[in-house]
Amino acid sequence: TKQKLWGGRFTGKTDPLMHEFNQSLKYDRRMYAVDIKGSIAYASSLARVGILTQDEASKITDGLRSVLAEWTNGVFKIQADDEDIHTANERRLSELIGPLGGKLHTGRSRNDQVATDMRLWLLEEARDIEKALKGLVRVMVERADKEKDILLPGYTHLQRGQPIRWSHLLLSHAFSFSSDLQRLQQLVPRISVSPLGCGALAGNPFVVDRDFLSKELGFQSTAENSLWGVGDRDFIVEFLMWSSLAMTHISRMAEDLIIYSTAEFGFVTLSDAYSTGSSIMPQKKNPDSLELLRGKSGRVFGNMAGFLMTLKGLPSTYNKDLQEDKEPLFDAVDTVFASLRIAEGVVATLEVDKMQQALTMDVLATDLADYLVRKGIPFRETHHISGRAVALAESRKCQINELTLEDFMTLNNNFTADIHDVFNFEASVERRESIGGTSRKMVDRQIRVLRDIVSQ
Ligand code: ARG
Repeated sequence: TKQKLWGGRFTGKTDPLMHEFNQSLKYDRRMYAVDIKGSIAYASSLARVGILTQDEASKITDGLRSVLAEWTNGVFKIQADDEDIHTANERRLSELIGPLGGKLHTGRSRNDQVATDMRLWLLEEARDIEKALKGLVRVMVERADKEKDILLPGYTHLQRGQPIRWSHLLLSHAFSFSSDLQRLQQLVPRISVSPLGCGALAGNPFVVDRDFLSKELGFQSTAENSLWGVGDRDFIVEFLMWSSLAMTHISRMAEDLIIYSTAEFGFVTLSDAYSTGSSIMPQKKNPDSLELLRGKSGRVFGNMAGFLMTLKGLPSTYNKDLQEDKEPLFDAVDTVFASLRIAEGVVATLEVDKMQQALTMDVLATDLADYLVRKGIPFRETHHISGRAVALAESRKCQINELTLEDFMTLNNNFTADIHDVFNFEASVERRESIGGTSRKMVDRQIRVLRDIVSQ
């Protein structure tokens, strides 16, 4: 009769609903490859301390490689009693190589095993996410480089503020993503810590060489405290926090583009590839891609908040609550990865439309004030004078550039004929030429900085 791996002290059967409740194989099977990788390294460490002969270690390694091949070829047969990926792999190993398979788990616990698997798995995924993030930034930078001529109003409070280059706006979001890239890279040393050899909680009594295990598995360091090694999930919390922030950046960019894609703005048109229609209103083209990007940030934040709640108040070392680390992490990884790729597609394919038409002369009111500043008047006064010019134009139902020199002279006698040179959007943008400004030169500088970051 089939026995659970831990069945020795039990006489009663597991309630079927409890079995289902306890079973994590349905989601942790995606860690099959790193689980086997960890076991192969562990078998070598056992051979090095004489628990396994060289021959036994190579039989176990060969067996594990066959199990791996079964997963990869999609022929691994899950048994009803398999509890998680660790028990499933070990069960299959023993079927293939016999009782020798039972030596593999000597001194090891699923507690150090699962912590090892999660870290190895996340390190691999983080590399893919890093690539996707760089891909997104690259597309934004290339687009910014091509569309430097396009101007639009820059907004504060969603009210028109000052003219800017469209590239400048695009790059502002790219800079958020580039700090996400930096933050992700900074997480890696804290994920890359090997818990293997911590055992159930107290350490490894067969004195396996833990630094050897770390090297074999490509970890940067070895967990110094076994209780911490099996109980720590901060690397998951941190990754979820990272994901929440990265998704927040995606969401804010999406929000800009959603607003800009309305008929009222008409700044951008989404490609059909990233839009959907309405089942009743035939005219509709909805920015569903962007709305999902915005919406999924909530889901990822929820994964972070939920798992942090799971950790809060847990006693030391391993508790089964920790099995709840998987679904939020897996979901966050999948969601972030998909979101980055969709965001890249949306940005690469959208069309820029009527941005320049939205530039009204009032967005040059700051430049008007600056004009008088250059004639020696304190800014606090020139701000007021420019404000009065705006009010005068408003009362005449005209634009400020339609006021005559005489009109301006009634407000202040320092105005001269060159006042009308102020009313030029391109000139306004080009004046912002100190670092970070929206002038062409400074946009080019941003492009260089970002290109440098993503090419590393
Ligand atoms: N499936 C478990 C998890 O994901 C593996 C560790 C089980 N350890 C234990 N002592 N029950 O956390």
